[in-house]
Amino acid sequence: HRHLTGIEGLQPHEIAFLLDEAEGWIAANRERGTPDKRLAGLTQINAFFENSTRTLLSFEIAGKRLGADVVNMHAAQSSVKKGETLIDTAMTLNAMRADVIVIRHMSSGAVRLIADKVDCPVLNAGDGRHEHPTQALLDALTIRRRRGTIHNQRVVICGDVLHSRVARSNILALTALAAEVRVCAPSTLMPPAIERMGVTPFIDFDAALEGADVVMMLRLQTERMAGGYVPSTREYHLRYGLTLKRLARAKADALVMHPGPMNRGVEIDSNVADHAERSAITEQVEMGVAVRMACLDVLTRRSRGVEGWA
Ligand code: CP
Repeated sequence: HRHLTGIEGLQPHEIAFLLDEAEGWIAANRERGTPDKRLAGLTQINAFFENSTRTLLSFEIAGKRLGADVVNMHAAQSSVKKGETLIDTAMTLNAMRADVIVIRHMSSGAVRLIADKVDCPVLNAGDGRHEHPTQALLDALTIRRRRGTIHNQRVVICGDVLHSRVARSNILALTALAAEVRVCAPSTLMPPAIERMGVTPFIDFDAALEGADVVMMLRLQTERMAGGYVPSTREYHLRYGLTLKRLARAKADALVMHPGPMNRGVEIDSNVADHAERSAITEQVEMGVAVRMACLDVLTRRSRGVEGWA
């Protein structure tokens, strides 16, 4: 693979390979011993056409830890605001001879479009409702480390599944790694025929939570609901908010996850999000840096004359 535009198309052993590679960077990040600057001399452009805290910063930190020259392009301050097209922007980045481009865009498929136009590897940092592959990899790594395995783990993904690229990428990654995936959403936020992705849909959150090993909560993505049905936050919390009482339906040692940003008091209560033993939310952020280091390393191997994928 030249690019990482999605989890779709990756074989289970390729996903496991990226997780193994990321595993190697966790200790390096914690110890901060002799830096491994294997991307020294490479230029990494992070082109973000949509807001981000975790993904942008962790890609920047990941690139810098590996020695790359990292530059960030924020669409709000770029010539996109003057009417420049996505393709022209991509051609401009390409002409600057970037060695790797990381893109976040509000349109599904925009990253693939750019990947087809440029000469260097492109990594998808989230495109519309389509995919957010590095998020799924960091979530899978968190589950594998905390639960010991992904195989046969009952993972409940609850929330605005319809608009969620995180849910889509996680479903693809977790089913590929043989987890039992349940998705839970109000019928208005459940994608049609989702069971074709190998998951079990639930409308009733309490039923979905029975015996869960992992509970992954999603934010209501109101920015993608223009013209559609927007539930009231009070009603939503009542039926789909993760409270301590509700969490008791899952396994006693179930893991609570959230990709962020969280809306506390809407999809998740603070005493659940901040739970010392159960919440893996800050660990997910830590895994994000390791996963992005692994992806940047693996995707640039060919151009550095190193053998690429497993
Ligand atoms: N999880 C995630 O993608 O967060 P950001 O939007 O802050 O990058």
